[in-house]
Amino acid sequence: MIGFADLDAGNKEDNMSMNWGMANRLARIIKPEDGRAVMLAVDHGYFLGPTSGLEEPRKTIEPLMPYADSIMLTRGVLRTSVDPKSDKPVVLRVSGGTSILKELSNEDITVSIDDCIRLNVSAMALSIFVGSEFEKETLVSLTKLVDEGEKFGIPVLAVTAVGKDMARDVRYLGLACRIAAELGAHIVKTYYCDDFEQLIESCPIPVIIAGGKKTPEMEALELAHHAVTHGAVGVDMGRNIFQSDCPVGMIQAVRAIVHENVSAKEAYKIYESSKGAKQKRAAG
Ligand code: R5P
Repeated sequence: MIGFADLDAGNKEDNMSMNWGMANRLARIIKPEDGRAVMLAVDHGYFLGPTSGLEEPRKTIEPLMPYADSIMLTRGVLRTSVDPKSDKPVVLRVSGGTSILKELSNEDITVSIDDCIRLNVSAMALSIFVGSEFEKETLVSLTKLVDEGEKFGIPVLAVTAVGKDMARDVRYLGLACRIAAELGAHIVKTYYCDDFEQLIESCPIPVIIAGGKKTPEMEALELAHHAVTHGAVGVDMGRNIFQSDCPVGMIQAVRAIVHENVSAKEAYKIYESSKGAKQKRAAG
């Protein structure tokens, strides 16, 4: 039987009881060859609306798809903007119900398990808001989603959403990641922080990092590099890819960090060379 350890995701679990479907879906997200994952996050519109760089999702997503191991998005964007003939694993955002105009932590589960199955998703993603007004509700939603996922072999990615007043430090993020793991999430997404190894040590499930707000390309690549060299299995990056002046170059560079262990400097060269080629094409 395939166990979680076979995914080589930091050998964090030896879960021989994991069902085949669950293990197979996880292996589509965290590549068994190296235990690493490049997830492209384009789900921002679920509370931000037409996010800069994602105004026309299909145009943004299509050129980036070949370089992502999986894609994280909402069902609306999946249906309207991704070719159903694509074989890219889908991590479906299934929490929401809020907008930037109101309290963000007041989320609920917004997609039924039936629709997740119909959409052939490889994982379901839900945000937890530890320390926020609706902490309990989002944590209980996580447990309900895990129960549904376990029935049908669909893993759950818990997103540690950070409330306005929360520090993005190891104490807080470590707390949120550990709670996600304790409540049964299969993967957790968080932010890179100082003393990240402590967070990794105390979290018994694979950790991926979000990119966060757009920063200069070199900074984003350094962040990705620090994260994977300090124990993250990969990235779920959005704005630092699709808001870059060369999104394809950025995802190629991030991919090289995650799967080829190149340095941030080497990765930056990949980005620059792709950007140069793009400029040449534009100049005719
Ligand atoms: C939150 O809006 C979503 O879960 C994003 O997918 C997540 O924050 C990763 O995207 P970014 O790299 O832009 O932070």
